[in-house]
Amino acid sequence: RESITELLDRLSEVVPDYPSAGISFKDLTPVFADAVGLRRITDAVIEPFSGQFDVIAGLEARGFVMAAAAAYASGTGMVTVRKAGKLPRPVHSMDYTLEYGTATLELHRDDVAPGTRVLILDDVLATGGTVGSAVKLFEMAGAQVVGIGVVLELSALGGRGSLGANKVHSLQLV
Ligand code: PRP
Ligand code: MG
Repeated sequence: RESITELLDRLSEVVPDYPSAGISFKDLTPVFADAVGLRRITDAVIEPFSGQFDVIAGLEARGFVMAAAAAYASGTGMVTVRKAGKLPRPVHSMDYTLEYGTATLELHRDDVAPGTRVLILDDVLATGGTVGSAVKLFEMAGAQVVGIGVVLELSALGGRGSLGANKVHSLQLV
């Protein structure tokens, strides 16, 4: 049977010079678009955390794909962590650093009860700014982050190191 690495190599599209010159962008949209691809990466990303979480959190926007599929597959609910200004009710907010400037992620204050065990999913771990911000939001809510799952980890950018003791599971190192 094809390994996850083989599947990702077969279905991902590498786009040269995107989003800027010299950057080689690994596009996962064909993996999401493939019936077997979506199922296999979803199952693989949550596998090490089986039985350890009460809810799955997805990070807008690309993390929503993973998180909704994984929540359905594991029989849990899904919590949305959104970019600033999108959630209608009271939120926790956390700024994070982008290549140019800062951005803000938000979480509804009552979407997770204190003590809830949360698995955070996103498509890519790069600098760790996005996931790190989400971890802080769940800490503010009194929830317990049990792990972080991503499809791709851009290891040169040091995201894993920025996340301290949090358990990070990635399907492919790039
Ligand atoms: C991308 C990607 C991750 C994040 C990784 O999201 O989907 O969420 O960057 O980078 P980091 O580890 O350095 O924070 P992006 O902010 O481009 O937005 P999108 O998911 O809405 O497309
Ligand atoms: Mg994203």
